[in-house]
Amino acid sequence: TGPIITVDGPSGAGKGTLCQMLAAKLNWALLDSGALYRVTALAAKQHGVALDNEAGLEAIAAHLDVQFKVSNEQSGVQVILEGENVTSNLRTEETGAIASQVAAVNAVRAALLERQRAFQQKPGLIADGRDMGTVVFPAAELKVYLTASAEERGQRRHKQLLESGNNASLAGIIEDIRARDDRDMNRAVAPLRPADEAIVIDSTNMSIEAVFDQVQQAAKR
Ligand code: CDP
Repeated sequence: TGPIITVDGPSGAGKGTLCQMLAAKLNWALLDSGALYRVTALAAKQHGVALDNEAGLEAIAAHLDVQFKVSNEQSGVQVILEGENVTSNLRTEETGAIASQVAAVNAVRAALLERQRAFQQKPGLIADGRDMGTVVFPAAELKVYLTASAEERGQRRHKQLLESGNNASLAGIIEDIRARDDRDMNRAVAPLRPADEAIVIDSTNMSIEAVFDQVQQAAKR
């Protein structure tokens, strides 16, 4: 298998955009691990599995029937869960909040581990998530930790929502981001933190292009 670049960090730091740019530029595969946790959350909801039913959640994660279909550049990746296209439900704040609760269950993380490692391929892999450099791909060639202030991340998400025709209060979004940060950073299993070897980039006052350039420079070394 080929080399791996991991990109970890909190919600809204710009990992998704950065990873898509890197994958396109290098022509490498992309693992959106957050999508796996989001799909697990949707499947649990569909099957009526409660968020405190750890064995039930583990079974859902272990038997996920999910396909990621790359159709074309415009529509991006389509996510098919049990034959149904769930792409539009996947990125909502509600699904994100449930995903972060599901992701705090150790047995769920264990059940998704091999599925994530199976994405490794030639010529290389960009892995986007919370524990890509610390747990899933500890031997990755380059590890990036991308962050930004909660206010800045809230503003970016707010703008995205407005552009897609959804109105939500900025204060509420920042509050949600803080709650998710808190859960992701303080959970017992695989808490969100930079890997020891990670280059840490604070994108609060940086354009996405500047972040991309910095990672590309690091990748050349
Ligand atoms: O796009 P955003 O950063 O808001 O979320 P995401 O990357 O899709 O991840 C959703 C949730 O899944 C996060 O809040 C984490 O709790 C969890 N997650 C995780 O625990 N480990 C990963 N490798 C990826 C996501």
